[in-house]
Amino acid sequence: MALSTQEILQIALDMAGFTEIPGDTAVYHPGEGLTKALVGIDLDVPELWIAKQLGFDVAISHHPKGGASTLNFPEVLYRHIEMMVEHGVPRDVAEEAMRDRIWDARCHAQIANYDHAPSFARLLDLPYMNVHLPLDEVGRKRMVRVVETLGPDARVQDLVDAFYEAFGEFRHAETQIEVRVGSPSNSLGRVVVAHACGTNGGYPVAKTYFEHGVDTVIYIHCSGPDSRRLKEEFEAKGKNLVVTGHIASDSLGINPFIAELEKRGLEVVRVSGVLPP
Ligand SMILES: [Fe+2]
Ligand SMILES: [Fe+2]
Repeated sequence: MALSTQEILQIALDMAGFTEIPGDTAVYHPGEGLTKALVGIDLDVPELWIAKQLGFDVAISHHPKGGASTLNFPEVLYRHIEMMVEHGVPRDVAEEAMRDRIWDARCHAQIANYDHAPSFARLLDLPYMNVHLPLDEVGRKRMVRVVETLGPDARVQDLVDAFYEAFGEFRHAETQIEVRVGSPSNSLGRVVVAHACGTNGGYPVAKTYFEHGVDTVIYIHCSGPDSRRLKEEFEAKGKNLVVTGHIASDSLGINPFIAELEKRGLEVVRVSGVLPP
């Protein structure tokens, strides 16, 4: 069975439970009758040429590569605010924690050459799209389901073990799940999987969780400077930051989507970091 870019997008939205296309997800060059998809975490211009040469009829990137995904990216960062509020952070405090990151993202969106990659997809006439937040949401829910299996006496190491046990993506990764702040022997306490919000919330969001009763924050990635600051300020307070690894964790959301595409008869090849499930 052949699919259109719109149908492929709808599959991802349905899987995430979204009724609208999020700001970081877009079809750059539409197509229909698609049967052979190249799926990768980063499919840029050179990869479009390769896809064309190798006979793929659609390129699906996870990360945003221009167009509406780049211009509207700041919109998805507001999910950090909603997630903090759901975890008991007062709304004004949550908004303050994200103020600088949203400002910076808005500036970046206006800087970016948003039509670079899409223009080449048009030139090659190769259907091209990216699916970001919906797949991160699929990955987040998978992680949350594992967290929910852990009892009140669980240690941080139990969480790490449970993730490795549950997910081939983590076992197959060349990166490790890191306890970046805190200790594997610490009590796990209250946990938040702070993922599927555009990008990680860095120092300000983790700090806000720690100051409002969360003991363990899970990010899929976090910068050196932000991790260091959190370590300096919160390790002595028994708080934990678990960083699961970017590519492994993105794969966690991408693989169920690939399985759905394959179920509908699409031939899919994984490249650019997507790990086997
Ligand atoms: Fe992702
Ligand atoms: Fe990512």
